[in-house]
Amino acid sequence: MNSMTLQCLVCVMCLVVLQAQAEEAPDVRQPLRFEGYPGAPEFEVVPRKDELFFYPCAQCHETMEPNPEIRTLNTMHDAEIEHGRGRIWCLSCHNLENRNYLNTLLNELVDFDEAHLVCGGCHANRHKDWYFGAHGKRVASWQGDRTLYNCTHCHNAHSPAIQPRAPKPAPPVRAGLERQPGIQHEKSAVWDTHVEREEQ
Ligand code: HEC
Ligand code: HEC
Ligand code: HEC
Ligand code: HEC
Repeated sequence: MNSMTLQCLVCVMCLVVLQAQAEEAPDVRQPLRFEGYPGAPEFEVVPRKDELFFYPCAQCHETMEPNPEIRTLNTMHDAEIEHGRGRIWCLSCHNLENRNYLNTLLNELVDFDEAHLVCGGCHANRHKDWYFGAHGKRVASWQGDRTLYNCTHCHNAHSPAIQPRAPKPAPPVRAGLERQPGIQHEKSAVWDTHVEREEQ
C-alpha cells in the first residue's frame, strides 16, 4: 500500500467516525423543560386573571379560526407590541389553539396566573433572581408564607419597560426647623429629562 492510498483510507475512516458522531449527538437547539431551581424556597403568586378585561378569551375565540399569520391586528387588542422590538409576536406567549392559556417555548400550556413561567423562558436570569427574592416584590411580611407579585404585576407584558415616575414632593420640615437651602431633591435634573413636571 503506498502512502497516498493510506492517507485516503485514514481520511475515509475519519469521515465514517464523524458521521456516526453526528447521528448520536443530541439536538442542541431543543430547549430544556423548566423544573424550578433547586433550593429555592416555596412560594405562591398573587393571581392575575381577575385583573384581565378580556379574560376568558374563549368568549370570542371559541368561535374564531385561529390565525397564526404575523400581522398588525385590527381589534381592540394591542395591535402591535413594543416588547422584543419586533423579534417576538403574540404567539410567542399566547397559545394558538387554546386562547385561555399562555404557552412556553416548548408549547406547554401556562395559566395566566403563572405568567412568570413564560417570562422565565427568555429572561432566565431575572426569573432566577425573582425565585430567590432578589428581583420583584414579596407581599406583606418577611416571615410566614411567601407570596410574590407576578412579573405582570409590575411589567406590562406587551410593553414591559418600567416607565419613569415623577418623585413625590419632599416631606414637610419638622416644626421649629428650617429647610436647608440648596437641597431640592424633587428638582433632580435626571427626572426633569424624563418627566413633565407637575406644577406644585
Ligand atoms: C371581544 C372579543 C375578543 C376577546 C374577549 C378576545 N379576543 Fe383576541 N381577537 C379578537 C379578534 C376579533 C381578533 C382578530 C383580529 C384581527 O384579525 O385583526 C383577535 C385576535 C387575537 C390574536 C391574534 C391571533 C389570531 O388568532 O387572530 C391573539 C393572540 C389574541 N386575539 C389573543 C387574545 C387573548 C389572549 C385574549 C384573552 C386574554 C383574547 N384574545 C380575547 C377578539 C377577541
Ligand atoms: C411576551 C409575551 C407576550 C406577547 C408577545 C404577547 N402577549 Fe398578550 N399577554 C401576555 C401576558 C403574560 C398577559 C397577561 C397580562 C397580565 O397579567 O396583566 C397578556 C395579556 C393579553 C390580553 C388580555 C389583556 C387584558 O387586560 O384583558 C390580550 C387580549 C392579549 N394579551 C393579546 C395579545 C396580542 C393580540 C398579542 C400580539 C399583538 C400579544 N398579546 C402578545 C403575554 C404576551
Ligand atoms: C419569547 C421571548 C420572550 C418572552 C417569553 C418574554 N420576553 Fe421580555 N424581552 C424579550 C426580548 C427579545 C426583549 C428585548 C431585548 C432587547 O431589545 O434588548 C425583551 C425585553 C424585556 C424587558 C426590557 C424592556 C425594555 O425596553 O427595557 C423587560 C422588562 C421584559 N422583557 C420583561 C418580560 C416579562 C415580564 C415577560 C413575561 C410576561 C417577558 N419579558 C417575556 C423576549 C421575551
Ligand atoms: C415589584 C415589581 C417587579 C416585579 C414583580 C418584577 N419586576 Fe422586573 N423590574 C422591575 C423594576 C422596577 C425594574 C428596573 C427598571 C429599570 O431599571 O428601568 C425591572 C427590570 C427588569 C428587567 C430589565 C429591564 C432592563 O431595562 O434591563 C427585566 C428583563 C425584568 N425586570 C424582568 C422581570 C421578570 C421576568 C419578572 C418575573 C419573574 C419580573 N421582572 C418581576 C420591577 C419588577
